[in-house]
Amino acid sequence: MRIGTLGNGLMAEALAGGWVNAGHDVMIGGRSAERAAEAAKRVGAVAGTLDEAAAYGEVVLLAVPAEVAVEIARLVPEGTTLIDCTNAVDHRDFTLAQASVAEAVSAAVGPGVTVVKAFNLAADTVWRNPPPNLGVPICGDPARTGGAEVVAELARDLGCVPVPAGGLVRAKLLEATAVFAIGIWVSGGDVRGMFPPSAEAFGTVLPGQP
Ligand SMILES: NC(=O)c1ccc[n+]([C@@H]2O[C@H](COP(=O)([O-])OP(=O)(O)OC[C@H]3O[C@@H](n4cnc5c(N)ncnc54)[C@H](OP(=O)(O)O)[C@@H]3O)[C@@H](O)[C@H]2O)c1
Repeated sequence: MRIGTLGNGLMAEALAGGWVNAGHDVMIGGRSAERAAEAAKRVGAVAGTLDEAAAYGEVVLLAVPAEVAVEIARLVPEGTTLIDCTNAVDHRDFTLAQASVAEAVSAAVGPGVTVVKAFNLAADTVWRNPPPNLGVPICGDPARTGGAEVVAELARDLGCVPVPAGGLVRAKLLEATAVFAIGIWVSGGDVRGMFPPSAEAFGTVLPGQP
């Protein structure tokens, strides 16, 4: 698959590296030709401008600060699956600086662009070398399941387990979850124990179960 990245920073490089290793053709796109080329060289991708990367990929990863996500996403042509991994972190108190980046992005791009929220819940250091079977929540419009399924494949290509997490309307919850977790991490807490492997393993009866 041809994958473009909008951004040449930590997330673009981490995910691009995994996808190159999985056999995909990846173009890292940046506003600085030098920085894009350096990142591409490190992971075995090719480099381009933001416009070139937007046009290159059947799938494009949006990996820029949330405050410019809408502006940069507009570069993506119709027919693209656009993965939004952004988090609008307000670093003053680790709350959301914006309610739903993914929905704002989806409203700004053309109707033929499928926006899928994914890969925003773990840090770039995790994506560089994901632990086996890391769950990757994915929010995509149910009416555009093709996009979400393509993203699920890209999660599997990293050795991860895609976790269907509802439509794009639920992306705001995923964004909030990420920022909530970041707030706990920076205060020295550990969120991992809050999400045990399965409810059954702990004898929990879920609603609707006998
Ligand atoms: N790092 C993480 O652990 C992590 C985890 C989950 C989600 N995220 C989210 O992923 C997104 C990217 O994070 P990151 O860590 O990769 O950030 P980063 O390392 O700072 O890289 C940001 C990229 O965006 C580009 N950029 C910044 N302002 C721009 C503008 N006005 N126009 C065009 N390009 C611009 C930068 O270009 P230059 O290189 O030219 O400055 C750089 O390529 C953010 O929304 C972040 O919240 C990050």
